[in-house]
Amino acid sequence: MSDSNETIAILGGTGDQGLGLALRFCRSGRRVIIGSRKADRALEAAQNVREQVPEADVEGMGNEQATSAAEIVILSVPFEHTASTVKGIKESLRPGQVVVSMTVPLATAVGDGPMRTVGIWQGSAAELVQSLVPKGVDVVSAFQNVSAHRLQHLAEPVECDVVVSGAKGPRQRVMALCPLVPGLRALDGGPLGNARIVEEMTALIIGLNIRHKCPEGLGIRFTGLPESDAS
Ligand SMILES: NC(=O)c1ccc[n+]([C@@H]2O[C@H](COP(=O)([O-])OP(=O)(O)OC[C@H]3O[C@@H](n4cnc5c(N)ncnc54)[C@H](OP(=O)(O)O)[C@@H]3O)[C@@H](O)[C@H]2O)c1
Repeated sequence: MSDSNETIAILGGTGDQGLGLALRFCRSGRRVIIGSRKADRALEAAQNVREQVPEADVEGMGNEQATSAAEIVILSVPFEHTASTVKGIKESLRPGQVVVSMTVPLATAVGDGPMRTVGIWQGSAAELVQSLVPKGVDVVSAFQNVSAHRLQHLAEPVECDVVVSGAKGPRQRVMALCPLVPGLRALDGGPLGNARIVEEMTALIIGLNIRHKCPEGLGIRFTGLPESDAS
């Protein structure tokens, strides 16, 4: 199911989480396109990646162009800008592409704190995104519980399980991305509806980070997984 030739676009890859994933995927040898509302910002971010990962196969483009040029499109913008970003790239999406939702509907979107989420009519931010993309484009939920700080700290592995949810084929394509980042382990999270639980776990993790004074960000690990399922 996985294809190592698939190009990964990261929209909002100029921000903390997207840049972290770009660094890690480039380091693994994958081709990455950083997308931004402003192509100049994307070019700068790509240059930043090249400075840290000299062998990087990375380019910077506007969000629409980046979407057209990739098979897997990771949305890396804050929840409150997710719907407008998806609407902005709608014309550039085509059947067969996978859109990865890693957004967390933190209550900061409505002026409340980061330790709570807001309710989404569709059930989760990922399902909201699925309702907005054209027919034939699959949304997969992943990476919500992974710390941007740890992604960017290339000297260390990112010890975290990634629960990946969505339709089976697209889900497997995204699960295959996880082991490209040392320390990440993909867990089969079943249907997209489970994204709601995973998104809410991030609000819990943010509270744990604050109470346990862990600005680098905690990771999560599930125990007891059969060896054959550990990737
Ligand atoms: N930070 C973390 O540790 C973490 C962990 C897990 C999940 N996440 C999720 O990952 C996503 C990105 O998080 P982040 O911390 O990287 O966010 P961020 O740095 O605040 O923003 C990411 C990018 O979003 C774009 N953006 C900002 N305002 C926008 C607007 N008004 N309209 C459209 N795009 C806008 C910007 O890109 P351009 O200006 O270049 O377009 C920005 O660089 C979020 O959905 C978050 O929930 C983050």
